[in-house]
Amino acid sequence: MTRYHPLLVALHWLIALMIVMALIFGGAFLAEMPNDDPAKIDGLRAHMSLGMAVLVLMLIRLATRLFTAKPPPAGTGNALLDKAGAATHWLFYILVIAMAGSGLATARMAGLPDIVFGGSGAPLPEDFGIYPPRIAHGILATLIGLLLLLHVAAALYHQFLRKDGLFRRMWFGDRQA
Ligand code: HEM
Ligand code: HEM
Repeated sequence: MTRYHPLLVALHWLIALMIVMALIFGGAFLAEMPNDDPAKIDGLRAHMSLGMAVLVLMLIRLATRLFTAKPPPAGTGNALLDKAGAATHWLFYILVIAMAGSGLATARMAGLPDIVFGGSGAPLPEDFGIYPPRIAHGILATLIGLLLLLHVAAALYHQFLRKDGLFRRMWFGDRQA
């Protein structure tokens, strides 16, 4: 077995793109927009839809990861680094699911399902910062961003310094070759 399952590969790259979009849009635009801006509800609708789609895809991916065969771990020659590599992969699942969970919890506490999707016409709360899950959502965004930097650096290290062809493992093709 030399590659991950094609469904896992497709989900890896699709989810990566969606998370990067949600991080940039969430941090640079949504969080900066005052809640009385008339465009805020549209922004929240887009962000919440994207975030919920990430959650569903991430759960499908977790099942795929648990129930399909995978290549043996890509080693670095250092036992500690190898352990860290495996741990960061599981940490991604935990952080991403917690990210979506804290977003959903914020939305629920702020009555967003009715305002954003139900068209209730009620005003948004003045500031989401009063809800504890909103604080967690911000911290998790930073943690995911840092983990992503580490993950990309590690992938490039494998590919270009160790030259072990790591990217093939997370791409489509003959899984036995
Ligand atoms: C937020 C975005 C990302 C997340 C959440 C993520 C998560 C993961 C996880 C959990 C794995 C382990 C396999 C699995 O369970 O699917 C993995 C493997 C991998 N990722 Fe990412 N990833 C992201 C972005 C990226 C980016 C931008 C790159 C390109 C530089 C990349 C390159 C790889 C490679 C090459 C592997 C295979 C590692 C191996 O063979 O064990 N990932 N990723
Ligand atoms: C895993 C996917 C998600 C990512 C990567 C993400 C990312 C972000 C980021 C980066 C911010 C701004 C944080 C800050 O600057 O402090 C944010 C804010 C927010 N997100 Fe998410 N989010 C995700 C899922 C969700 C979900 C599923 C919901 C709700 C259904 C949601 C609701 C919100 C809300 C209500 C805010 C606050 C906006 C404001 O402060 O005005 N997010 N998100």
